[in-house]
Amino acid sequence: MRTRPLKVALLGCGVVGSEVARIMTTHADDLAARIGAPVELAGVAVRRPSKVREGIDPVLITTDATALVKRGDIDVVVEVIGGIEPARTLITTAFEHGASVVSANKALLAQDGAALHAAAEANDKDLYYEAAVAGAIPLIRPLRESLAGDKVNRVLGIVNGTTNFILDKMDSTGAGYQEALDEATALGYAEADPTADVEGFDAAAKAAILAGIAFHTRVRLDDVYREGMTEVTAADFASAKEMGCTIKLLAICERAGDGQSVTARVHPAMIPLTHPLASVRGAYNAVFVESDASGQLMFYGPGAGGSPTASAVLGDLVAVCRNRLSGATGPGESAYAALTVSPMGDVVTRYHISLDVADKPGVLAQVATVFAEHGVSIDTVRQQGKDGEASLVVVTHRASDAALTGTVEALRKLDTVRGVASIMRVEGE
Ligand code: HSE
Repeated sequence: MRTRPLKVALLGCGVVGSEVARIMTTHADDLAARIGAPVELAGVAVRRPSKVREGIDPVLITTDATALVKRGDIDVVVEVIGGIEPARTLITTAFEHGASVVSANKALLAQDGAALHAAAEANDKDLYYEAAVAGAIPLIRPLRESLAGDKVNRVLGIVNGTTNFILDKMDSTGAGYQEALDEATALGYAEADPTADVEGFDAAAKAAILAGIAFHTRVRLDDVYREGMTEVTAADFASAKEMGCTIKLLAICERAGDGQSVTARVHPAMIPLTHPLASVRGAYNAVFVESDASGQLMFYGPGAGGSPTASAVLGDLVAVCRNRLSGATGPGESAYAALTVSPMGDVVTRYHISLDVADKPGVLAQVATVFAEHGVSIDTVRQQGKDGEASLVVVTHRASDAALTGTVEALRKLDTVRGVASIMRVEGE
């Protein structure tokens, strides 16, 4: 084994960073044996230097992250600060000064992944980011390496633990969104500002990264259609139950009709209780990958939290260190397929629509005509009337999102339709 250690700079020492440092220290001998050389924590860049950080030598702490990545003797920079800047500049600077990079930064990779990969390649360095998607669950490496010889057609999953916790609470207790969110906040699952999670930004960034790797095509955050889950109600769960379904916030990336395009989207959807994703409870994540040769694969586990995310970071650190020792680099960006990313209107799926209507002769026929005029075929209709008003639940066969949007716009214009209570896609059938 080489005795000269590989030097690691840690950018960020919060929930994930402190776990990375702890595991590097407590598992130092095993890591050295697996890599073939010791790894040494050479510096830790933080915002608040006065905070006590157990197990980290205070001389390693610095507030000057730029100077740390410019040192020139750093082999690997581990970036766990998140956000776009200064992370982007620090990573680019690290490549320029001879380091490879392990990052957990989904927002940055979803926005600027191509430029970061180009910077890594230009400097003959590695960029690894298993921790950016679904915490401890191995997904990037299976897609990038294990399935590199297969053709992935679909990636469908629950990639946000906070929202899965909230939806699971609503499902199991009948609670409303706010009540379930409050519990998630009290238990530490939801952040004080839960916007990134509940509005689907976090999941959309992960969807962009997964779609890019799965389809060998550049997919950016802006390409991902996004709907949050703040409008999901207890009534939606009751409707879902009547259909033998539950509701999950799903990230869905798939090849579109002609195979020359792909779509990527995040939105709440009903899925049958018999679907394996329906049984993913609490803050867990799970991702289905469907490929030509492999068939269906499911990846399941903790998608967030300091220790699980650190596990993914450490796995990347070992891989990158091994590459350094052998003078190799791992897989870079693969975007050769350059498929078109189609808009949401092209997505074809089923829909569950709840309407409040007047309960009088001809209303059902009127509503059915609007669906027919837009080429949307109805699968089932359920009506419950009370005092001259009725609630009408229509479930459609597969139709394009554009056709469904046109249908709903036309329904809203009918005098007999008092309101569209909810529209939910039905997936996983
Ligand atoms: N906030 C995310 C979640 C974890 O709840 O899954 C980090 O991506």
